[in-house]
Amino acid sequence: MGRADFGKLLVEEVTRIDRAKVSKRRERVIEGFTKDRHPRAIIKGRPYLVVNSNDYLGLRHHPALLAAEAEASEQYGVGPGAVRFISGSMKVYADLEEAVAKFHGREAAMVFSSAFAANLAVLFSLIKGQSKDSAVGGETLVISDELNHRSIIDGIRAAGLAREQKAIFPHLEPEVVAKILADNRGKYRRGLIVTDGVFSMLGEFQDLKSLRAIADRFDEDYPEGVWLIVDDAHGIAASGVTGRGTEEVTATRADVLIGTLGKGFGVDGGYVAADQRVIDYLREAAATYIYSNPVAPGTAGAALAAVKLVAGREGRQLLKKLAEKVTFFKQELAGTGLQMAADSSHPIQPLLIGKPNEATRITGELFQEGIMVTSINYPVVQKGRDEIRIQLAASHGRAEIEELVEKLVKIHR
Ligand SMILES: Cc1ncc(COP(=O)(O)O)c(C=O)c1O
Repeated sequence: MGRADFGKLLVEEVTRIDRAKVSKRRERVIEGFTKDRHPRAIIKGRPYLVVNSNDYLGLRHHPALLAAEAEASEQYGVGPGAVRFISGSMKVYADLEEAVAKFHGREAAMVFSSAFAANLAVLFSLIKGQSKDSAVGGETLVISDELNHRSIIDGIRAAGLAREQKAIFPHLEPEVVAKILADNRGKYRRGLIVTDGVFSMLGEFQDLKSLRAIADRFDEDYPEGVWLIVDDAHGIAASGVTGRGTEEVTATRADVLIGTLGKGFGVDGGYVAADQRVIDYLREAAATYIYSNPVAPGTAGAALAAVKLVAGREGRQLLKKLAEKVTFFKQELAGTGLQMAADSSHPIQPLLIGKPNEATRITGELFQEGIMVTSINYPVVQKGRDEIRIQLAASHGRAEIEELVEKLVKIHR
């Protein structure tokens, strides 16, 4: 098979994806945002209400963040120039890491170009060392929720463990984790329980309290203990009175916490927060940190401003506003006959549609009506559980939520 044939095969694959109606590449191109209190995206000159963004607190247009970004770019230039340990480590990264660690009450934190990059490297490095000389061996049992995010799955896959070292537990069923740990006693040096904090399809919180108790119960049964690793990309800066996410909602603490700066914080980049010894090790081992640039200094500056803002009074106010918007949306929906796929208290509100074509028809018609919202279809969700994923934000006005519900009712038959 020559290059031309492989090219043909690629066309065939894209055609297959198109036929299955799961294509992603025809992205809507946003030309800008309106400049009002409740910014709308402008597409082909027309404003659209955005209810499919992870910018839960509406921070991406915040003047303090824009100013911090400009200031950091002015001070350091628009790019890092090199990876951190070569010559790209600017004070703004160190300040951001200190702020992230403080926000989560941890000894230290480390910033990556994205949470995806953080998960890949953190999981790989805690599962096994980077080389055969590493003191960190690969006798690890990994226990992962079946609906964990792709970046967690890829991080585990990258470590190339034997099948029996990877246990997948049924979604939100912590008691199975206890059984897995009991059954594998004496076989491995450490256990890693890995989970999303908030699951983004239904806005559900993981039962971290039970997982924490299980990790503690079996800790002594594994020579290097049982660790709880939580990726709370959708929870942090979106839920909990102070925005500490699933840890706050469940009153639990993970051993290693991964977060993103690109959702609730409104900026970009990812991070891990943990004990100093974990972070020291990761700076030596994490490939996506050692061999890949950090976010731009301007982005780090904006993220630092975002973390400080969320930690302060304005953050509390925005989180309260966001929670009020969630309550208001639920009130508006009550009595309309529209049904939710789950009773979520998170700004992710999944509207149950059930049929894939119907979900796509509704989101298409909503777009005609000036609303950007996304349908989530089988196989991402179970058959018959096709949904429209509504993502509320503190920056939505009540009038906009009313408009959303009114149009949903009109278009949904
Ligand atoms: C649970 C989870 N982890 C990681 C990510 C990736 O975040 P980032 O965009 O910072 O790579 C996401 C976003 O989709 C997510 O939902």
